[in-house]
Amino acid sequence: MLTITHLSKQHTSAARPVFSDLNLAIASSEVVALVGESGVGKSTLLNCIAGLETPETGSILIAQQDMVRLDEAARAALRARSIGFVFQAFHILPTLTVAQNIAVPLLLSKIPLTEHADRIQTLLERVGLSQFGSRWPASLSGGELQRVAIARALVHHPTLLLADEPTGNLDPRTAEEILNLLLERVRAQNAAALIVTHSHQVAQRCDRILTLTAEGLRA
Ligand SMILES: Nc1ncnc2c1ncn2[C@@H]1O[C@H](COP(=O)(O)OP(=O)(O)O)[C@@H](O)[C@H]1O
Ligand SMILES: [Mg+2]
Repeated sequence: MLTITHLSKQHTSAARPVFSDLNLAIASSEVVALVGESGVGKSTLLNCIAGLETPETGSILIAQQDMVRLDEAARAALRARSIGFVFQAFHILPTLTVAQNIAVPLLLSKIPLTEHADRIQTLLERVGLSQFGSRWPASLSGGELQRVAIARALVHHPTLLLADEPTGNLDPRTAEEILNLLLERVRAQNAAALIVTHSHQVAQRCDRILTLTAEGLRA
């Protein structure tokens, strides 16, 4: 589902690479936890996979396409079709309602309009926000915004879910429910997931735990 080979990334102005010669493969229906110290490059890796940052060398195969070698338009299309992304900082758009935020991936991946309302409401219910569709993001708590971000990442049935600390702002019980939802959706849709987490409980529930260190990725 995702195959990364010989990936190297150095930020301009940085003295040394964030990672180099990194290799990783995730099969369909597999959920992988990515752990590691703050600043080690977990978010950078997720951004590279999603085509939001460009690595210097290596390849990132998603749905038989190499994200690294595509032009900007093709990257955007692959991202829209295949990837769900839960950002660490949510990135919920403040000028759209909750339902409109969740609709964004449906619009980008050209899912028929007639399906939108059902899909959005189903996910709102699953994340415990069934009455929140017409609310403005500014009126939501951090935990509620995080659940909107998770609904938005799943609504277009992505084949690859990338989540950057998706339960970081949730109380333990809600975190458990949200994790259950992520695991269930990924497995039901034969998707794959890479979940960055600092939570031991979350990591333990995944199929595999990988640790990113300054020396690279290890099992
Ligand atoms: N756009 C950028 N330009 C320069 N350095 C960056 C940029 N983004 C991240 N970094 C640096 O790259 C390293 C890895 O960051 P990040 O991927 O955010 O780590 P993590 O998510 O593991 O905490 C850090 O040292 C960070 O300061
Ligand atoms: Mg990070």
